[in-house]
Amino acid sequence: MTVNEAAAHREATPPARPRPVKAGADDPVEVRMTVNGTPSVLSLPARVTLSDALRDHLGLTGTHIGCEHGVCGMCTVLVNGEAARACLLFAVQLDGADVVTVEGLGRPDDLHPLQEAFGRNHALQCGFCTPGFLMSSYDLLANKPEVTQEELPEELSGVICRCTGYRNILTAVGETHRAHPGGIPAPGNCGHRALVGRAGQGGNASAGQEDGGAAAASVTDKEIVLLSGDPTIAVEITTGIDLPEEKIWRVLDDIHLLARCLPGAELTDDLGNDHYAGRARVSVGPIKLAFNGLAHIVEHDRSAGRLRVIAQGQDTGGAQTQADITLRTKATETGTAMHADAKVYLTGRIAQFGRALAGDVSRRMFEQFADAVAEAATSGGAPSGPVTAPGALSLVFAPLLDRVKRFLPGRGKRRRGGEKER
Ligand code: FES
Ligand code: FES
Repeated sequence: MTVNEAAAHREATPPARPRPVKAGADDPVEVRMTVNGTPSVLSLPARVTLSDALRDHLGLTGTHIGCEHGVCGMCTVLVNGEAARACLLFAVQLDGADVVTVEGLGRPDDLHPLQEAFGRNHALQCGFCTPGFLMSSYDLLANKPEVTQEELPEELSGVICRCTGYRNILTAVGETHRAHPGGIPAPGNCGHRALVGRAGQGGNASAGQEDGGAAAASVTDKEIVLLSGDPTIAVEITTGIDLPEEKIWRVLDDIHLLARCLPGAELTDDLGNDHYAGRARVSVGPIKLAFNGLAHIVEHDRSAGRLRVIAQGQDTGGAQTQADITLRTKATETGTAMHADAKVYLTGRIAQFGRALAGDVSRRMFEQFADAVAEAATSGGAPSGPVTAPGALSLVFAPLLDRVKRFLPGRGKRRRGGEKER
């Protein structure tokens, strides 16, 4: 029996323990799995497949879906250490299972040897089959280390490459096999996934919080771990506000007032130790995202004019965001210069949007934030209306509106300069 035949057999008889539950197709069922080393709790309908749960509920879009019939092998993941077709398993079958996806194989700055070999040997063209081939090859080399180069074509025939890159794929797998005669190294990116959200707070998935309420109680003990590597978006923006620095800090000192100035944001809980729970709504093109998440004020130094906040959130569709924002203020001849330096990391479906559009949204949000801070500092209270996140239309018309505003009397208390998107 080849490894792929064995995988097909396992798909017919799922390795995880079956659940004695009777639920309607749309009734939410709680499933606890360890995904890439991170305990995860999902609440989803019984009809949701593992591939959809990974992609839509956990934002792990590296698992590709081709046929959804168990034929193409694109959706191959490891379930309890062995290859399985994620499109043929229901997530509710996998309560208690250990799942590894292609995201768990290696880190961007420390790829798995198989990933290195695929790159070195040009073993991918469009890349659609690559996650399936990587996970299937890992399963083969881990579970059948005695495999020979001649057996590779048949052993890997369970994954279909539409770009006909088979020769280079076989070369890459064979090269990795020969380079590791003592056994293929284990997946190298398990347990690195960042904590997101707070159990029971409106999301349908949470990671790193398998103990529900206990995890919520201890959330302040957990630090937000920012992803390593370059951010998806980096924005630097300097705004001139015609008010003394002292007045600006009256807003920055008051976290509730500050949150009211953030477009689309809402503070829902003070968790202590400068940790806060909150919600944020953002529109990117036609897509509306609602994030639940955490924010931590890591630096609040009025005398140095510095406020640094790190935050992370997840929306119900699996989009995840992390942000590292530093605000600096400096007294000027005419008032205060407020400088925002933001690094934003996006994963999941939101990361599919172009950097230019996501960058425009981020930049526009900071402009709105600066306007709202100026208004709050002037009035001493919250901004008069809700500060909503910018939508696609507002982005299109924003430059036009800016021009019109310049000709209107009584406007332009805020002066902007030094914007930079890296
Ligand atoms: S998508 Fe699962 S085998 Fe094709
Ligand atoms: S590289 Fe395109 S499908 Fe395989």
